[in-house]
Amino acid sequence: MPITLSFQADHVSHRLNCRLLQRRASALLRECRVADHGLSIRLVDDTEMSRLNKQYRHKSGPTNVLSFPMSEADDAGIENHGANSQLAQIPIRELGDIVISVDTALREARESRQSLHDRLTWLVTHGLLHLLGYDHELSETAAIQMLDKEQELLHKLHHSRSTAMTQLAINVDHIATIRQARGGVEPDPVAAAAICEMAGAAGIVVHLREDRRHIQDRDVRLLRETVKTRLNLEMGAQKEIIAFALDIRPDMVTLVPEKRQELTTEGGLDVAAQKKMLARAIDRLNKAGIPVSLFIDADGRQIKAAHEIGATFVEIHTGRYCDASHEKGRDKEFQLIASMAEEAYQLGLRVFAGHGLNYQTTARIAALDTIEELSIGHAIVSRAAFTGLDRAVRDMLAIVREASRIG
Ligand code: PXP
Repeated sequence: MPITLSFQADHVSHRLNCRLLQRRASALLRECRVADHGLSIRLVDDTEMSRLNKQYRHKSGPTNVLSFPMSEADDAGIENHGANSQLAQIPIRELGDIVISVDTALREARESRQSLHDRLTWLVTHGLLHLLGYDHELSETAAIQMLDKEQELLHKLHHSRSTAMTQLAINVDHIATIRQARGGVEPDPVAAAAICEMAGAAGIVVHLREDRRHIQDRDVRLLRETVKTRLNLEMGAQKEIIAFALDIRPDMVTLVPEKRQELTTEGGLDVAAQKKMLARAIDRLNKAGIPVSLFIDADGRQIKAAHEIGATFVEIHTGRYCDASHEKGRDKEFQLIASMAEEAYQLGLRVFAGHGLNYQTTARIAALDTIEELSIGHAIVSRAAFTGLDRAVRDMLAIVREASRIG
């Protein structure tokens, strides 16, 4: 359900980053488990706020925030105000309106030395809790309950993806592919990883395939020593490779299906059909302190299975979205990725995405609030042949940053 952000006048809107506010409001709805409800946020000036304050609360002067629930609590079937477990059971689909005075928010932000957007975020949180039945004016206990909830939500918000950029991890397999074409020592994926990190990559990914067609054991061992961000070892769940991972201890492992004949990873893991085997692999790796991501198609059944067997992350396969030959098909694949990423996020999984992303297809995926990190290789290495690796990484980073910009 949409969050409608409206402005009473241009002078109210011109200093605001609507995208940031929308993102933060969406994250708050998700945290409160009411992401499927509509919410209207109206930003007004002090004159309009004074009028509303007079009309609805018989008070003169402006206030910072007013909440107007879509229906009264009794109608909505809420018996006990503020109890968190009841939030998910609210039967209405529209929560109501939050009206905020930007003039007052700005004054308060200056007084409390906060940014205007942080103050507005606090006001949206406060207003939302009112809509959900919390009321600090009822009693001291109710006030403490509301304050605690407010702080909990803001803490989560500041540590959640919604206030952070989408990260870019770079897969350097194809640097090794070029090296293996001559069976020599260059170009070295270890040097490539260092260049990627210096250009701003948040992580390095390598796929150690059973047939060692590109990345070699030596590369992973050296990368373990040299990578300063995060080393994500992509691999099949075979015994020998798991033993190698346990020895090397990468920062995380991404389990992928692996077929000897394929040119690249063709599809996601069928987690639902291999739950026992994958659960064992996850367990062994987790016991060694290595979190595991499962590379899956955008499929609710696979997400549920990944959650059930204790995966920390899922990486959603973006190949079909990237390979779509017409806009309609691409759009359909995008919507599927967006809704499945949301589903995984709601289950508490951390969500990555990758495969086939290039300079044209990345922005839309990077803009999804629920996706923390993208794993991109081939497109960047291909461009690097013409522009150099540093430039190719920076060009992709610019796209990711612009798409996930929060101001
Ligand atoms: N994620 C996974 C799980 C992959 O197998 C690959 C390809 O190695 C990638 C991401 C990166 O895909 P691409 O090289 O097409 O960007």
